Amino acid sequence: MPLNHRSTLTQFLIEERRRFPSASGDFNALILDVAIACKAIARAVAFGELGGFLGNHAAEQGGSTNIQGETQKKLDVLSNDVFIRRTEWAGNLAGMASEEMDLPYQIPGNYPRGKYLLVFDPLDGSSNIDVNVSVGSIFSVLRAPRDLDEMARELQRDVTEADFLQAGSTQVAAGYALYGPTTMLVLSVGSGVNGFTLNPNLGEFMLTHPKLQIPADTQEFAINASNSRFWESPVKRYVDECLAGKPGPRGKDFNMRWIASMVAEAHRILMRGGVFMYPRDTKDAAKPGRLRLLYEANPVGFIIEQAGGRASTGRVPMLDVQPTSLHQRIGLVFGSRNEVERIERYHTEPARSDSNTPLFAVRSLFRDQDS
Ligand code: AHG
Ligand code: MN
Ligand code: MN
Repeated sequence: MPLNHRSTLTQFLIEERRRFPSASGDFNALILDVAIACKAIARAVAFGELGGFLGNHAAEQGGSTNIQGETQKKLDVLSNDVFIRRTEWAGNLAGMASEEMDLPYQIPGNYPRGKYLLVFDPLDGSSNIDVNVSVGSIFSVLRAPRDLDEMARELQRDVTEADFLQAGSTQVAAGYALYGPTTMLVLSVGSGVNGFTLNPNLGEFMLTHPKLQIPADTQEFAINASNSRFWESPVKRYVDECLAGKPGPRGKDFNMRWIASMVAEAHRILMRGGVFMYPRDTKDAAKPGRLRLLYEANPVGFIIEQAGGRASTGRVPMLDVQPTSLHQRIGLVFGSRNEVERIERYHTEPARSDSNTPLFAVRSLFRDQDS
């Protein structure tokens, strides 16, 4: 393997920090602790069945579910613990919130508290874990509300759900780790997006993908087509037009992908463009969308926008949404800018009756061939 002199994540963070001479270093310390958590999770994922890590959590007791009502995998629970243990001790955090915890996590009394909030999905795509398909971790760093920040560390009050209900545009940083053929960490501290590959010999993340940019146009889309009967008409229209291909209104053929690990889809889109949709649908009135705002849509939205792409609910920019609860679900569309803008435009145009519109006379996978 050729020797090279790429930056390590540590070097990258120190060089970034030099632009802010008054910075305390707490933020860098936090990101480096998150990176250690991701390395630990990468090892657990790599050992898989050999480490006894596959399957459902507490299977002998009939399994456990999280607040979303989803069955927790052993690796969901382990990854959540790793995130907590690696970041709680250092005095950088006021509190944490995670997909796998109903309530905010309080920093134990024997540790100092700090000025940041960490919000994470410890293992995204975990339904894929037992079939050895890529999974990842997603994280978002917020500033703790001012009253917390200004309190003496030893007097700092507990965090509440309300402290975390900040619009995505206020994120200080967001990132994800992808546990695929290589382990990567993709990070934005609000000045573009940089990708790091884990060098397994050194155990260090090395800067391999500086200044990532998403192409504005694409011919690839990702959506779970089994939900098509529940889609709203702007989404149906968009997908129908993609499927109509070259002879259809778009005048070009599209390719489709669905990994069922959003973090892996986000990474593909960062690498070569594309559009991802898990839109609001009518499947379950209690769930406006499948994905969660605070630890899925917002951090991925931040990264995508920092790379020149766009993230939206379909109606409004994702990062403008004022959250109303910790585990809130939301419709999510992100990726190549021109495609996301097109989907947003379709949401503002008056509903159209598909069968009367010549545009939709094209046969597609999603319509009755006899209609
Ligand atoms: P998680 O494993 O954290 O619960 O998230 C899974 C998410 C996301 O990664 C993926 O895009 C989506 O669920 C897959 O949903 P379908 O099962 O409907 O394909
Ligand atoms: Mn997830
Ligand atoms: Mn998860």
